[in-house]
Amino acid sequence: MPKEPYVVAHVAVALDGATTGFAPDAARYYELAATWNEDVTLTGADTILAQEPALASAPRPGSADGGPLLAVVDGRGRVTEWEALREAGHWSDVLALHARDTPPRRAGRTVPELVTGRERVDLSAVLRALGERHGARVVRVDSGGALLGALLEASLLDEVSLLVHPCLPSGTGNRHWRGSATTPARFDLVGSRTLADGLVWSRYRPAAGR
Ligand SMILES: NC(=O)c1ccc[n+]([C@@H]2O[C@H](COP(=O)([O-])OP(=O)(O)OC[C@H]3O[C@@H](n4cnc5c(N)ncnc54)[C@H](OP(=O)(O)O)[C@@H]3O)[C@@H](O)[C@H]2O)c1
Repeated sequence: MPKEPYVVAHVAVALDGATTGFAPDAARYYELAATWNEDVTLTGADTILAQEPALASAPRPGSADGGPLLAVVDGRGRVTEWEALREAGHWSDVLALHARDTPPRRAGRTVPELVTGRERVDLSAVLRALGERHGARVVRVDSGGALLGALLEASLLDEVSLLVHPCLPSGTGNRHWRGSATTPARFDLVGSRTLADGLVWSRYRPAAGR
């Protein structure tokens, strides 16, 4: 019987918890991300859409043998650069995560898809299927606040890893973790390190009986 995967969200944040509006230390972020050696990288459509202009002209070394699977929550069918993602050299393959109400996909599209939920992708069902059908033991979430908030609200995260940057973000707008949980949740600190350039890496797990 396959176990549900361990799900960790590793996120670069500013002092106010924002995930955008500042320049994260990408080298350090990805160095630390290697800690979990994930089977699946789980991300959201808006994170991919933010990269699509760059992706369209980026080198395409091909899929990475032995690399993780990239699974993208795309409930509204907005992502288009599936081939570029597959060939970006980071992932062994890509998987489109849709809902039953996701608009019809382009004819001839080759990306494999998993359909769960009606109006939105059912994140819990996705994680179960990643374990059962794809043998995932570890899923690392690489996303901004919307997907993080939804996963936290549904108590689907086993760990939250914060790379805190000593800055405040620029600009305006709601960049924070967005869920609509009605009760506060508690977490236990399971590790913390001070790194160069004022960065702090802190890891938390949901507190028992929170
Ligand atoms: N600081 C970091 O570590 C970090 C990491 C990654 C990305 N980012 C940045 O974050 C920004 C994007 O963040 P974002 O928060 O706007 O987008 P996001 O993380 O990509 O999350 C949006 C995705 O979550 C899905 N979603 C949200 N709530 C859901 C729910 N309740 N059920 C099912 N699916 C749900 C949305 O579904 P639909 O498809 O249905 O809309 C959408 O696909 C980008 O600028 C990116 O560069 C920062």
